[in-house]
Amino acid sequence: MTEQSNKLELPFSQSCENNKGPILEKIKTIFSNNKHVLEIASGTGQHAIFFSKKLPHLSWQPTEIPSQIESLNSRLSTSQNENLLPAIELDVDQKEWGIKKTEAIFTANSLHIMSEKSVENLIFEASQKLSNDGQLIVYGPFKYEQRFTSVSNADFDSRLRDKSVYSAIRDFEWINSLCKSKGLLLKKDFTMPANNRLLLFKKI
Ligand SMILES: C[S@@+](CC[C@H](N)C(=O)[O-])C[C@H]1O[C@@H](n2cnc3c(N)ncnc32)[C@H](O)[C@@H]1O
Repeated sequence: MTEQSNKLELPFSQSCENNKGPILEKIKTIFSNNKHVLEIASGTGQHAIFFSKKLPHLSWQPTEIPSQIESLNSRLSTSQNENLLPAIELDVDQKEWGIKKTEAIFTANSLHIMSEKSVENLIFEASQKLSNDGQLIVYGPFKYEQRFTSVSNADFDSRLRDKSVYSAIRDFEWINSLCKSKGLLLKKDFTMPANNRLLLFKKI
């Protein structure tokens, strides 16, 4: 979806508007001792603008796949937040992410869009790029013990699968075991509104 603003068509997501407040309530504590956050799959940029404004002690680095960078930067350029960096290209399928080590990585609503192989690479590369004690935060819907947590999530999963053979709501247990195998230990699994979760992993 897009939004008309200053005669530019900006990318827009209603779900971002709905979930940014509840996510902020969690990450303001989680990121209280951090200085820098790398965001994977920033999408419309609404989260990046909102979180960088509300958490001015952080420098916020949005990223996206190359084809989405222009659209993402069109929204980011409407922000005056000095701690919000211009988006850089990052496809999680890249064999080695061309970035420095970082203390925190955030991603929202991305694991059910990208392929399983991409999820595996995201977790592997995140584990390589996080410094010790670094944090990986993953927000979105998950299945538990192979069950959806709501009828609406089951419907959402069907719509995802109709759109792409690669997309599907992921099993929490699969994500957790992938992370564990790469030294990322689950510290919290927060229940969030609209049948979503916020998972916090720490690198040991
Ligand atoms: C549903 S959107 C979520 C965007 C935003 N994080 C949000 O919460 O609204 C999923 C995003 O994943 C991105 N994506 C898909 N495949 C990717 C990949 N291989 N590497 C990085 N990002 C990817 C898409 O470009 C898209 O912006």
